[in-house]
Amino acid sequence: MLEYRGYDSAGIFVPGSGAIKAVGPIDNLAKKITATIPGTSGIAHTRWATHGEPTELNAHPHTDASGSLWLVHNGIIENYREIKEKLLSQGITFASQTDTEVLVKLIGTLYKGDLRQAVMDALLRVRGTYGIAVMSQEHPDEIVVAKMGSPIVLGIGHDGNFVASDPSALLAHTKDVVYLDDGEIALVTKDGYSVISIDGEHREKLPEKVEWDIEAVQKQGYEHFMIKEIFEAPEVIANTIRGRLLFDKGRAKLGGLESVINELASLNRLQIVGCGSAYYAGQVGRYLLEEYAGLPTEVELASEYRYKRNLPDKKSAVLAVSQSGETADTLASIRSAKQMGVLTLGIINTVGSTIARDTDAGVHNHAGPEIAVASTKAFISQLTVFVLLTLLIGRERGMSQEVGVEIAEALRTLPETLIKVLTQSEEVKAIAEKYANYSDAIFIGRKFHTPIAHEGSLKLKEVAYIHAEAYAGGELKHGPIAMLDTNFPIIALCPQDDVYEKMISNIEEVKARKAPILAFATEGDVHITELATDVVFMPKVHPIVQPIVTTVYLHLLAYYVGLAKGLNVDRPRNLAKSVTVE
Ligand code: F6R
Repeated sequence: MLEYRGYDSAGIFVPGSGAIKAVGPIDNLAKKITATIPGTSGIAHTRWATHGEPTELNAHPHTDASGSLWLVHNGIIENYREIKEKLLSQGITFASQTDTEVLVKLIGTLYKGDLRQAVMDALLRVRGTYGIAVMSQEHPDEIVVAKMGSPIVLGIGHDGNFVASDPSALLAHTKDVVYLDDGEIALVTKDGYSVISIDGEHREKLPEKVEWDIEAVQKQGYEHFMIKEIFEAPEVIANTIRGRLLFDKGRAKLGGLESVINELASLNRLQIVGCGSAYYAGQVGRYLLEEYAGLPTEVELASEYRYKRNLPDKKSAVLAVSQSGETADTLASIRSAKQMGVLTLGIINTVGSTIARDTDAGVHNHAGPEIAVASTKAFISQLTVFVLLTLLIGRERGMSQEVGVEIAEALRTLPETLIKVLTQSEEVKAIAEKYANYSDAIFIGRKFHTPIAHEGSLKLKEVAYIHAEAYAGGELKHGPIAMLDTNFPIIALCPQDDVYEKMISNIEEVKARKAPILAFATEGDVHITELATDVVFMPKVHPIVQPIVTTVYLHLLAYYVGLAKGLNVDRPRNLAKSVTVE
């Protein structure tokens, strides 16, 4: 079971032995299971509450009126009220407040001995998103799964078959997987699987190999996944750039974009969509693409883009940024762009994910699976892909070879630089322990570092529950400065780039209000020590990769503040790793 996917309650059903459920993390469920449950098949689920509080009654699996069918579900059934009304009028009663129970009760009313048929009939009446697994007491050797908007992957093993929402759950058993597409339903047994479309057509689906090993999803001696993933930074960057740079020519080569290179070279405009950290990566991408590649670029929150009027022309493209490749709003934005006939692209970490497969072309991050809920290594690899993309498009649009070679060199030496950055972790930890006592913070940066300020503040909120905000340095005096006092620290990102002096002016304004200042500055900057309360010195790098370096410090900061506060940094409250609901 993938605890990081949801963890406010969990449950398991094994035919012949019934269901066991518990509120809280999986451990609570494990404690309730005092003896081996007899059986050779079953379904289990961890929940991230949408409809109804995290209670045992609302935990999955849910059952139909007869108690024979059991179902687990990720996603949201949008028309559940309507269906529930009808079922209530037929005398069916409900034990939970969930939309999921409505679905299994509906399947129950349609079940005449063929589970897959009943699931198909029910899904034709349903609107919404789902990744479901259903079993019946009558046929304990069969699991029926279906996908629409939420991931489902089958694991094909030697001594049995598996279903999961993420391949990392299967790695201990098999690396051979089959990704279901939206609108597909599979029947899985110990010996085989068959896939059909929702309207009954046979689909030939062959297994693919998962590229990474089980170690990638284990802590390997680290206290948390988050710190393990931060420390993977040098390796992640090396993997993201491997084979993608032509050093002498000062060019990038991205295989997944080769088919659309002419369109990219002559784009009028690029629109980037994403959520949370992926959105901030997109904002850095915008600065880079405009500054170095001369490509007009906009960045939209996917949750806004999908509902607003967008005005693409034929020569624009929409680029989705997503670690999971399953984020509901980002997926919906890509689908709406497709409907408008626009070229769709992706920067996606998860191979085989829905967005990766739905876009016309794209780039995989190769950051490996990210388990901690808060994104760290995927974020810096997204920034790295944007540097590659800037080089690729820039060289097609007038960037000189000399500049191209400089950028390629900046990327080549980045893993080494990050090894050095990580040797400063104890220094960041000591500072984090000091700042853990504040209840607020404002991050400031300019240009490339404005989105990085937002990323730093998001991470501090997520893993340390500190009220943090972020502003472009120039904005402070237009309002937020009113909040500053000796108890309200400012975290200033001020590497020596072309806006350094402007940042220094902003820091002076803060100092005059007596707010504590934690600065992230370039090594050798003597001036900053006179201004800031605490300084962390960063190695000097090319400005195009500086956001990546600065981010690693901010991720360490958030991690160590969360740790100092004794929080569950890998699984912050109220969050889920993969936001497959709208
Ligand atoms: C922040 C974080 C989230 C994700 C966001 C998008 O630490 O992890 O803000 O960045 O939910 O997720 P993906 O990239 O999977 O689309």
